[in-house]
Amino acid sequence: MMKKTVLVASLLAAMLALPAGAAELPRLVQRDGHHALLVDGKPFLMLGAQAHNSSNYPRALSKVWNAAKDAHTNTVLMPVAWEQVEPEEGHFDFSFVDTLVKEARQNKQHLVLLWFATWKNTSAAYTPAWVKLNPKRFPAMLDRDGKPSYCLSPFGEETLRADKRAFVALMTHLKKIDADKHTVLMVQVENEVGTYGLVRDFSPVAQAAFEQPVPAAVLARQKPVAAASVATSGTWREVYGDYADEYFHAWAKARYIGDIAKAGRAVYDLPMYVNNALRDALEQPPKPWKNNFASGGPGWDVIDIYKAAAPAIDIVAPDIYTSGSEAILANLRLFQRKDNALWIPEIGNAEGYARWIYAALGRGALGVAPFGLDYFNYSNYPLGSPRTDKGMAEPFARVFGAFQPVQRQWAQWAFEGRTRGAAEGDDRKPQTLELPGGWVAKLNYRQWQFGEIAMDSNEKRPAGTEQPGGGVAIAQIADDEFLIVGQRTRVRIEPGPGVSGFMLRAEEGSFDDKGRWQMERVWNGDQVDHGLNLTPEPIMLKVRMARTR
Ligand code: DGJ
Repeated sequence: MMKKTVLVASLLAAMLALPAGAAELPRLVQRDGHHALLVDGKPFLMLGAQAHNSSNYPRALSKVWNAAKDAHTNTVLMPVAWEQVEPEEGHFDFSFVDTLVKEARQNKQHLVLLWFATWKNTSAAYTPAWVKLNPKRFPAMLDRDGKPSYCLSPFGEETLRADKRAFVALMTHLKKIDADKHTVLMVQVENEVGTYGLVRDFSPVAQAAFEQPVPAAVLARQKPVAAASVATSGTWREVYGDYADEYFHAWAKARYIGDIAKAGRAVYDLPMYVNNALRDALEQPPKPWKNNFASGGPGWDVIDIYKAAAPAIDIVAPDIYTSGSEAILANLRLFQRKDNALWIPEIGNAEGYARWIYAALGRGALGVAPFGLDYFNYSNYPLGSPRTDKGMAEPFARVFGAFQPVQRQWAQWAFEGRTRGAAEGDDRKPQTLELPGGWVAKLNYRQWQFGEIAMDSNEKRPAGTEQPGGGVAIAQIADDEFLIVGQRTRVRIEPGPGVSGFMLRAEEGSFDDKGRWQMERVWNGDQVDHGLNLTPEPIMLKVRMARTR
């Protein structure tokens, strides 16, 4: 009896010593269409870096931590490859994961693990040799003539069983080493799935499934493209017409991935997501597949199929390498939904992408991770930066450094729907952001800090503005009070329709490590007469507005 009382008392004492929420696992929450990743009970903003594909070995890690430190990240996204953890069937080796988690903690980084298994950029490259060498047991998709594709079939029962078993072993191991510390925040299941060159699997088992009625869960969510459909229920062809093959393939992939995710979560319930190589976001309505994107991948137009077939997957996430600001904006819009948090696990690490972090975090994204942000001597130029050194990390360091002092508050404000953001467009044109409370932020680029140059003028522009580089994120931190974080942008906060008022005070400063505002100076006179001019080095301003009616 005595023993039991002591045990209960010490348990209670241990619980009281923990910060609130510390016992709970990282999880996603949604309120009024706004999302948050709760870590130890509070919203967390992932200022991320995704390592190169081959950086997932203990001796390579120092190059990852050095870059993460330089870039002021708080989360590293790291592959864990099936070939690496199960080199021999049934023999698991998680020593890399152990080193990774231990070193992440030493380097004050959280982790997102990327499960490279049946599909990595659609191929089987990361499966173990015993999978690659046994096509009979682990079949490829077949084309219409019965010829095997390079891509493993989502109907390979043995493949699914083997992948799932390895994933469950990984999650079981993670639970053992991390359930008390929550270093690992989320898991990506597979990587950029889909198939190039073939719209779907035509193997007999796949064909038989294709001829079945569309499952009710898919019908309830995925609306047919009107012109293509001849029936509201029935076979894939009847319901989805010319889109039937690619939608069916998306369903087959999603079901496979969802099954793996579900089994993993049953042992250790971390948030899980899929990422995707984007199809054209500006093609509206999207045309049927014509060998122009990875069929069956989680593109924006089939998010509903993934939601229906893979409920254990929380997020369908875009990998942003699109050039062109219009297309990037369209993707941010399409992937940010009430049922789909915006999370960008990959964005190019070339300088021009850094400004999009303001747009994404301002829109309430859970986080952003530039891809290839480590000092491994490899550059994926022209997709990303030609540089592999500090110069590659610097543009991201600037932006992440600006958010770093305010990261937890920012995630909370975003969850409350109080944040907005923008990136300078390729057209360099002024933009307007509608702010909470009826105010608007007028944004203008390529201006000197003094005076105003008309959009079409030939006057000399500031050096360093040859390429678009402006970005700003604004949070409403109290009634009529805003925090502005940004660079290379002129901001004017003005009354929107139905409001009248003016800017009462603008302070430059930052937050200390206890989250208290530390004012450096008040901006007035020249510093406000020509708008609030955010410098190439990001700054933080706290602005109070006054209403006159
Ligand atoms: C997107 C993939 O998801 C990454 O793993 C990587 O291959 C990049 N493309 C290209 O560097």
